Amino acid sequence: MIPTRHMQILRSSNLVSQSLAFAMDCSVELQGQVAKCEHREYGHATVQRTRFGQGSVDALFEDLGDEMQYSIVLPGLDVPWRSTPGSSQGFPCYRSNRDCPFAAVAHNTKPIYGIQFHPEVTHSPKGKAVISRFVLSICGCRANWTMEEFIGKEVSRIRDICGPKGRVIGAVSGGVDSTVAAKLMHEAIGNRFHAIMVDNGVLRLNEAKQVHEMLNKDLGVNLTVVDASDLFLSRLEGVEDPEQKRKIIGNTFINVFEAEAAKIEAAAEEEEKQGGEAKGLVEWLLQGMLYPDVIESISFKGPSATIKTHHNVGGLLKDMKLKLIEPLRELFKDEVRALGRLLSIPAPLVQRHPFPGPGLAIRILGPVTREQVKILQQADNIYIEAIRRANLYNHISQAFAVLLPVKAVGVMGDKRTYEQVIALRAVQTEDFMTADWYVFPAEVLKRISSRITNEVKGVNRVTYDISSKPPATVEWL
Ligand code: XMP
Repeated sequence: MIPTRHMQILRSSNLVSQSLAFAMDCSVELQGQVAKCEHREYGHATVQRTRFGQGSVDALFEDLGDEMQYSIVLPGLDVPWRSTPGSSQGFPCYRSNRDCPFAAVAHNTKPIYGIQFHPEVTHSPKGKAVISRFVLSICGCRANWTMEEFIGKEVSRIRDICGPKGRVIGAVSGGVDSTVAAKLMHEAIGNRFHAIMVDNGVLRLNEAKQVHEMLNKDLGVNLTVVDASDLFLSRLEGVEDPEQKRKIIGNTFINVFEAEAAKIEAAAEEEEKQGGEAKGLVEWLLQGMLYPDVIESISFKGPSATIKTHHNVGGLLKDMKLKLIEPLRELFKDEVRALGRLLSIPAPLVQRHPFPGPGLAIRILGPVTREQVKILQQADNIYIEAIRRANLYNHISQAFAVLLPVKAVGVMGDKRTYEQVIALRAVQTEDFMTADWYVFPAEVLKRISSRITNEVKGVNRVTYDISSKPPATVEWL
């Protein structure tokens, strides 16, 4: 484990795809060749040591053993390139695997290195060591980034941006990202930050109430709860396309926030008239967006593709009046949790599984209706409750139920039923860029399945999702 920001900076598929393009350029420059492989490669693979050149050639992999697990490409990146470096130009290859003879290369005299896999993701267990070698030993950087310093710098950056009177509003969902972002804003500008919890009608069972209580009690943040479920559900009516759902939810969020901002400003004006202190306009909207959201939402030129439009990126209105403030934009989930702990956010909040902005709308695979939301809320609640009871919640990175838009035949008593199917998902991951499905004790799954089919009206079948990311994503939509 390398406690350095340098490594984090490299943990970006943006940089990986840029370096891939760079490697291809270098390769061509040095009389190598770049061509597409015949077979696509995804997920787990192994790199093997084949041959060593002279000098610095093994600097990246020293002491890491003869074989290394690694992950080839992220889902959606359908470009397994096979590049053949110009070995006559001083490029001995020194790692290879079955389908990709040049999984890694290094120049034998110049400081030029190339890798074709993703060292930054969880599925490349020794990837961090590779990045560390490159950044610290080869580039000679120092590991001097600390979270404490990040807090100090970010707090003063926020104060500078907002000025002495500016106000910020931001959504809180009870998830770790928005909670940490809200607490950081509160540290920076106190009550000039207004947290808004929007009930969009696609939250988990009793979530609005629970989150309200937790945030009020534990964080002391200025919090308003807005019930906008009718508005969201009416706009979502009949929509099945996941990107469309995300956009509608993102846009509606902004409409609700702008209305709330106007109310806050009106209240401040009134206070000022009564002789209170002038406190300025609501100019900013806080977004708890993390680095993986940035990466997966942006389409790069070249060998990359937009994977999902995360609502907090893709659903923003073009004519939005509020400006964005995104203090977590460069952090990964594990770093956000570390930040939360440093900001004294209670462990149950810091450890909460992430919950996506578009909520249950992207876990209902068909059209979103109140009835479908109710079915999914109940099934999800049974599932999460059982995981907590089995003391597994903190071993799992994210767990949730998905409502499938298909009906299956079943039998209840002596009656034939024709009802919907619930899929259960649970993954383990550090960075959410790659993830493994979680292996439950069979007893736990049995209990969950039995409770869901007995207690949730409209469901007669439960399945468990055994797909890793890649090639699947964590969410089904
Ligand atoms: P995927 O499905 O992209 O999920 O593998 C990775 C992580 O991102 C969350 N996710 C979202 N979060 N808006 C969000 O705020 C979204 O549209 C969205 N889609 C996925 C997902 O829950 C997981 O934690």
